[in-house]
Amino acid sequence: MYNTLLTHLENGILTITINRPEKLNALNKEVFNDLDGVMDEVYTHKEIKTVIITGAGTKAFVAGADITEFAGLNKEEAKKLAKRGQDVFFKIENSPKPVVAAVNGFALGGGCELAMACHFRICSDNAKFGQPEVNLGLIPGYGGTQRLTQLVGKGKSMELQMTAQLMDAAEALQWKLVNHVTTQEQLLTKTTEVLQTIQTKAPIAISKIIECINIAVVSDSAYTNGTTGYDKEVECFGECFTTSDMKEGTSAFVEKRKPQFKGE
Ligand code: COA
Repeated sequence: MYNTLLTHLENGILTITINRPEKLNALNKEVFNDLDGVMDEVYTHKEIKTVIITGAGTKAFVAGADITEFAGLNKEEAKKLAKRGQDVFFKIENSPKPVVAAVNGFALGGGCELAMACHFRICSDNAKFGQPEVNLGLIPGYGGTQRLTQLVGKGKSMELQMTAQLMDAAEALQWKLVNHVTTQEQLLTKTTEVLQTIQTKAPIAISKIIECINIAVVSDSAYTNGTTGYDKEVECFGECFTTSDMKEGTSAFVEKRKPQFKGE
């Protein structure tokens, strides 16, 4: 269905694989269109509970925006390209269902930005992260200046983006860019295990966790509508009390049994 993506749905987990291995899965216009389309499916299809984004092959998650598409762009066209990338990545970041990046190699430029737009990241021990745009006379355009700063802090973000130096998996873990490091063979197994745990919890509560945590870090007022994270938390806490899952969860605790959540 998608030219540049492979998709596989199993036990509620949709695995999206960016599939341009001969170009190290670089993000061209078609990949963005496909990601946009598949995220619409994630938002609307009930059978999709959680999502993994990974890259085809053993070398790269995504080695960046497709640099060949930059040739000949004027200022306005370049701004449009950045806005398009940001919007697709906001769609991932604001997904009501958890999206985890399983980073299986190079995550550079737009690839690092894609991984950072996911709710969290797990990587294999061959992963390499970086924003090397200054090597091209550029800066990140798909949210990298903002999200890398949120994740690793201002000083490290400045240094990484000014020097174009790459971080290996151990450093990425140390700087909290990733939550876990595995072998290449174990990457999808570990990611699946974490998502299976999440899938035993109440889906509406999970979607509200995403909304509240995103407000704490998303600075774009178009997405926060001027609401503070604390206001949002109060509102979402209240809304949880209208769900049958909340009644089920609290009853199950009192009755000393496992809750059966329905996403209602
Ligand atoms: N855009 C377009 N094509 C890319 C690409 C990108 N971001 N990254 C890799 N490719 C292509 C290469 O051009 C090459 O294509 P070819 O075989 O038709 O020549 C193919 O993918 C394999 O890449 P190659 O450079 O030969 O692999 P390598 O192992 O020698 O180097 C990297 C790997 C990741 C270090 C190197 O590809 C690289 O530096 N890529 C660009 C990273 C970058 O600057 N990203 C930020 C972009 S904003």
